[in-house]
Amino acid sequence: MIELKNLSYKYGEKYALKDINLTLNKGEKIVILGVNGSGKSTLLKVINGLIFPDTGEYFYKGRKITKKAFRDKNFAKNFRKEVVLLFQNPDSMLFNPTVYDEIAFGLRQLGIEGKDRIKNWAERLRIDHLLSRSPFDLSGGEKQKVCLASLLILEPEVLLLDEPTANLDPASTDWLVEFLSGLDKTIITTTHNLYTAGYLGKRAVVLDKDHKVLYDGDMKSLFSDKDLLKRANLMHRHFIGYYRKGEGYGRKAC
Ligand SMILES: Nc1ncnc2c1ncn2[C@@H]1O[C@H](COP(=O)(O)OP(=O)(O)OP(=O)(O)O)[C@@H](O)[C@H]1O
Ligand SMILES: [Mg+2]
Repeated sequence: MIELKNLSYKYGEKYALKDINLTLNKGEKIVILGVNGSGKSTLLKVINGLIFPDTGEYFYKGRKITKKAFRDKNFAKNFRKEVVLLFQNPDSMLFNPTVYDEIAFGLRQLGIEGKDRIKNWAERLRIDHLLSRSPFDLSGGEKQKVCLASLLILEPEVLLLDEPTANLDPASTDWLVEFLSGLDKTIITTTHNLYTAGYLGKRAVVLDKDHKVLYDGDMKSLFSDKDLLKRANLMHRHFIGYYRKGEGYGRKAC
């Protein structure tokens, strides 16, 4: 469904992604791990067709994704409906006067005014009590749920989630992780939190500080490779303490 071939991306002269090869099948759920600045958000933006590789190629359902491809209005409309991105910073996604309008926006763009559908998604994401509020006045976690509802209502095929649990409290994190695992969709989630990673997918892709893929494989094998975790700077000394005692969530998740 998604194929990246020898893909690199630079902001100006500085690499953010280097020689990335990644293949994803329909329905797969993978987790992108890596330290701050390793390129996780940039990778999701490339897959979302917001920015385009400097070198290498990106194919979605066999079609090469380029700036030019989006000039085809039909393709652009379908792609934007099928592949959606939850931004790391929810504020960059919110611009409507009410939560209701925020969730309705994407549907309206498609010419649909689906009152029941909006209510249904608001209930599923447990934000129905916020529908008449301004999205700008909500807490970080509430905003994230509103953004997620505004994407899910489009019934996308590919969900790109940039640190979706970053603003959530433990109960909401648990709920979201379970909710996502029940969705029959292709999902790519980024995080640098090993505690939740184990629950978000069975396959892990680790980016290193040089913006290259350091590991692509089984989450369970990653968790059991302490040297690799240290090399990726994903394991801090507190986690090592848990790890030694066999109490880490990551271990339990496997
Ligand atoms: N708009 C931008 N202009 C210039 N450089 C950028 C821009 N966005 C990101 N970068 C740089 O590209 C690299 C990758 O950034 P990116 O945001 O993809 O990392 P990340 O893995 O998502 O980090 P984090 O864990 O902090 O979210 C970093 O070195 C960053 O400084
Ligand atoms: Mg990021």
